[in-house]
Amino acid sequence: MDTMTTTKVAASLCGALLVFLLGSWAASGLFNVDGHGAQAYVIDTGDSDAATDEPEVNFEELYAAADIEKGARIFKKCSACHKLEEGANGTGPYLYGVVNRPIGSAEGFSYSSAMGGFGGEWTPDELNAFLEKPSNYMSGTSMAFAGLRKIDERANVIAYLDSLDD
Ligand code: HEC
Repeated sequence: MDTMTTTKVAASLCGALLVFLLGSWAASGLFNVDGHGAQAYVIDTGDSDAATDEPEVNFEELYAAADIEKGARIFKKCSACHKLEEGANGTGPYLYGVVNRPIGSAEGFSYSSAMGGFGGEWTPDELNAFLEKPSNYMSGTSMAFAGLRKIDERANVIAYLDSLDD
């Protein structure tokens, strides 16, 4: 390549760059309308506070009025893994006397480190929180159970468990 060709190539590259720069400057001037991207208006669908519309159900009250027989039926969901006789561990630890028992204390059961190191006691409140969604309440637990979504089911099954050692 001689000097003239090199110069022409360089010049046309510069020209192309200039056109590009001018083009994008013009385009941004045209299209960059202020507030672009912000929502212009909000349609009120009326359910923005749907979560707070649910009646507040008080666990204490449900627990006080719990139905032990219904709880026994719900326990069938647990019985695949849990036995009720003291010392009878299965996939899960035995649940005899579990209400107000220290967490992770069934003799002879090898707990996950999550449950073994959790501390505290299985008060009805604690059980209520755990059983709603075990993996949420105690991340790392090996209890492979989705949870009882309904608060009255939890109250009933906890009352059933508590009734066994009275
Ligand atoms: C698929 C088996 C499985 C099912 C179903 C299951 N569990 Fe568990 N559960 C386990 C395992 C495994 C553990 C031990 C978890 C760990 O070590 O992290 C456990 C632990 C527990 C504990 C803690 C006990 C302790 O000694 O600290 C309670 C309470 C409990 N389960 C209650 C229930 C109830 C109530 C149900 C039914 C609503 C249920 N589980 C259903 C497997 C199960």
